[in-house]
Amino acid sequence: MTDSGNDFLKYVDLLDEFITVRAFDQGTLPFDVPKHLNSVAYRRAVVESCVVDYASKVRPLFRRSAVYTEDSVIEALYNICVDVNPHLSITEVALPTGKPAVSSPALETEPAAVPDRIRSGEMFDYLTTRIVGQDTAARRVADTFRRAKYNLRNPRKPRGVMLFVGPSGMGKTEMGKAVADYGFGSNLVRIDCSEYVLPHERAKLIGAPPGYVGYHEGGLLTGRVRTNPRSVVLFDEVEKAHQNVHDLLLQLFDDGVVTASDGVVVPFNQTFVVMTSNIGAADAQRVSRTVGFNRRHPSESQAEDLYQDAVRKYFRPELVNRIDAVVPFRTLDKGDVQQIARLTVGNLNSYLAPREVSLSLTPAAAALIADRADYRAWGARHVERIVETGIADPLAVMLERGKVKKGDRIAITADHGELVLSVQ
Ligand SMILES: Nc1ncnc2c1ncn2[C@@H]1O[C@H](COP(=O)(O)OP(=O)(O)O)[C@@H](O)[C@H]1O
Ligand SMILES: [Mg+2]
Repeated sequence: MTDSGNDFLKYVDLLDEFITVRAFDQGTLPFDVPKHLNSVAYRRAVVESCVVDYASKVRPLFRRSAVYTEDSVIEALYNICVDVNPHLSITEVALPTGKPAVSSPALETEPAAVPDRIRSGEMFDYLTTRIVGQDTAARRVADTFRRAKYNLRNPRKPRGVMLFVGPSGMGKTEMGKAVADYGFGSNLVRIDCSEYVLPHERAKLIGAPPGYVGYHEGGLLTGRVRTNPRSVVLFDEVEKAHQNVHDLLLQLFDDGVVTASDGVVVPFNQTFVVMTSNIGAADAQRVSRTVGFNRRHPSESQAEDLYQDAVRKYFRPELVNRIDAVVPFRTLDKGDVQQIARLTVGNLNSYLAPREVSLSLTPAAAALIADRADYRAWGARHVERIVETGIADPLAVMLERGKVKKGDRIAITADHGELVLSVQ
């Protein structure tokens, strides 16, 4: 690989400094492959080769910082390096193993790659760290993603077509976003199907026909995918859309294209399509209470059958037959929602890191958040709002009044049904 002679100045938020990042041409890697090739070693190697004067100037900067761990800085720098060199992203690299490729016609399109195990494993790890309690669904998503990665699908069709089903607030939409963040450079086109109930509303997706108002504006769906062909396209609450949007889905799934109103045929073969729906959720929840689908080792196949039936009743068979997988999301229990509360507070904690202030959440406080969120009815839907109003808002008041200093630890406890923040 040659250095293309381009250096870029990039701002690093974490360090409040500009650094110089080198752009390399696509081809081989600009560094020797580390012996133990895991994600940490790989990211570090990318940073060391792309950040100019890394060892002499940049590393000493964060070495002095008491706040950031080396790993968090490497992670931030790695993301900046990949902005400049998208082909160095860990999900993009394919390295020859040195072993002769096993001759298999289906696999010939992709060179034998070291990171396949790492990559697919990593996606599952990533999804299950971010989305709590939906490991079975995460496994199905990672499997579909891997199949596409190795071109074990018709290359003209979308990389995956999945339907996530389950009650509200279980993480279906969030899983779609996580797929975009993991494998599609965070390119997400989210279509809220409740905005496409009426026949003429389809024009918002593909543009208005010539001569109509809005003709020159182009469509939300076709326009976005034309600019970013590698995107996750999320049809949220797909059952709500008008029949003519379902027709458009048929064309998308079958031909891998959507024709925009101006006649341009937009390829969707690099997109990953996720639809969400709560069709069948009420039935499945009723049964799950008796058979225990919401326990850890439930009769998942039973719930799956119920969803399959409901989906087949509701959607046309042509559509259902083109879906790779109908994936049920389980009903979250209190323990799951407490864990989501901990993750949400953990995010708040990371925003506080520059102030050297940290939060800790007691189990009783996590339980209180789950109850306040009315988790039986809403899953984790309201957790974020409760953390904002019950923790972030009072914390902002404490900061404003100067009651929190550098190095403070703040304990969040539950007292008589209220969240209480106290400086330790
Ligand atoms: N399993 C989960 N793990 C982590 N967060 C979740 C989970 N389920 C829901 N949430 C939280 O609740 C919010 C609403 O979830 P969402 O994915 O929109 O639910 P759904 O699409 O299943 O109705 C999300 O923004 C997320 O913060
Ligand atoms: Mg949703």
